[in-house]
Amino acid sequence: MIHMKLVAPSILAADFNHLGDVIEMLNNSEADLIHCDIMDGVFVPNISFGLPIVQHVHQIARKPLDVHLMIIDPDRYIDEFYTAGASIITVHYEACTHLHRTIQHIKELGIQASVCLNPHTSVALLADIVEYLDMVLIMSVNPGFGGQKFIDNTYRKVGQLKDLMIQRNSKALIEVDGGVNLEVGEKLYKEGTDVLVAGSLIFGSENPVGTIAALKRL
Ligand code: DX5
Ligand code: ZN
Repeated sequence: MIHMKLVAPSILAADFNHLGDVIEMLNNSEADLIHCDIMDGVFVPNISFGLPIVQHVHQIARKPLDVHLMIIDPDRYIDEFYTAGASIITVHYEACTHLHRTIQHIKELGIQASVCLNPHTSVALLADIVEYLDMVLIMSVNPGFGGQKFIDNTYRKVGQLKDLMIQRNSKALIEVDGGVNLEVGEKLYKEGTDVLVAGSLIFGSENPVGTIAALKRL
């Protein structure tokens, strides 16, 4: 299994008064993806931003948009986020009644399909879907807010997911989201994580470009 070391800055923690400058900074950094956190105030207890912001980011971004849908009934909005410029769409396991259909829909659009698990959701529940996925996103905090503390059980889940992927011959990337710092990031890469999402670590630092480079060097 090829193990990547990718970094996906979450713009949730960015300064939205200067969003254009933020995206230009990310364009000129070693960031691999731009992580967009979409929250509906129902699936998670917070509202973030929606389609117009994703469209604007897409117009100037030179990195693929990794769109994390923390919304109920995501099927209703998949086509619109695709049109807005998403390269990867992640839906929550907990929000999809017909997950296989949802994944097929995303893949038919010609973009990458990913499923996210909340901290309480077992990796074993992916047994019959993981072979169809381009990525699995493991939440390492309860979704809804940036700046929360990393949940240690995540390391175990990454290991369990790798085992399941071997059994099922899945080529999915493993992404982890929430509370990532340099120490956590190093352990996650060692466990086999391919993509680290980081919001407050990057945008709360003096030198975001340098922090992204530090994550890439772990
Ligand atoms: C949480 C979001 C995360 C969040 C990560 O609901 O899915 O992407 O922005 O932020 P940090 O890195 O600050 O925990
Ligand atoms: Zn996210």
